[in-house]
Amino acid sequence: MSRIALVTGGTRGIGRAISLALSDAGATVGANYGGNDDAANAFKEETGIHVFKFDVSDFDACKKGIEKIEADLGPIDILVNNAGITRDKPLHKMELEQWDAVIATNLNSVFNTTRNVIEGMRERGFGRIINISSINGQRGQFGQANYSAAKAGLFGFTKAVAQETAAKGITVNAVAPGYVATEMVLAVPEKVLNESILPQIPVGRLGEPEEVGRCVAFLASDEAGFITGSTLSANGGQYMV
Ligand code: CAA
Repeated sequence: MSRIALVTGGTRGIGRAISLALSDAGATVGANYGGNDDAANAFKEETGIHVFKFDVSDFDACKKGIEKIEADLGPIDILVNNAGITRDKPLHKMELEQWDAVIATNLNSVFNTTRNVIEGMRERGFGRIINISSINGQRGQFGQANYSAAKAGLFGFTKAVAQETAAKGITVNAVAPGYVATEMVLAVPEKVLNESILPQIPVGRLGEPEEVGRCVAFLASDEAGFITGSTLSANGGQYMV
């Protein structure tokens, strides 16, 4: 796969595994990150993958960041919208800032990045866009009105843009991971994780980031051109749609 890929939030957690899976499949990867310079530099040192710092919740920052990636690496063929945050609270305790931060980073970001690559993909007649949603966008989650709303929004975006671009060689799909062993999930209170979440997973364990990475590499491949507007769930059987 001699393609150029951008993975947002691509230096840590699931994004890191996606960057590595695409790189292993032969793509040249630009891994975006938002703030953690130490983690990004360590990732770059360890993997040789290029890193690009910009805030995905800021349209102009995305425009500039994508221009820089395209100048350094070439036109982006594969976009993986992975960057995301949590600010968990039941709605009756949620502050406006917690709502806004999650919607801006997890949902508005997808417009900010995709809008800045879509014209090039249309002109070149090829593109792969993969939006990392979540089981919690499919079924809702106590304490995550903001996150569930943003992640559910990704499914609508995916299906709309899939229709708009199908005739242009561009596919747009969503991946919906369940609970995967990353810093984000391990930040859930231990009691909640052990007593409420793990017993709901028929496979009996958390997912591994690499298991999501392989889903993305498959959808990003040239051979996956007939799959568009779909959702690939990887959740250990926790939620079946
Ligand atoms: N269903 C029903 N009731 C629940 C519940 C649930 N799932 N979880 C908690 N409650 C109850 C509590 O037992 C408590 O009841 P009592 O008051 O009767 O004791 C009540 O709700 C409120 O709990 P708290 O007052 O302790 O609420 P809090 O303000 O401390 O917030 C929370 C709790 C932040 C929601 C915490 O329960 C939590 O972190 N839950 C996990 C949320 C979660 O799964 N997040 C996913 C993060 S990982 C991720 O997002 C990645 C991905 O895509 C999968």
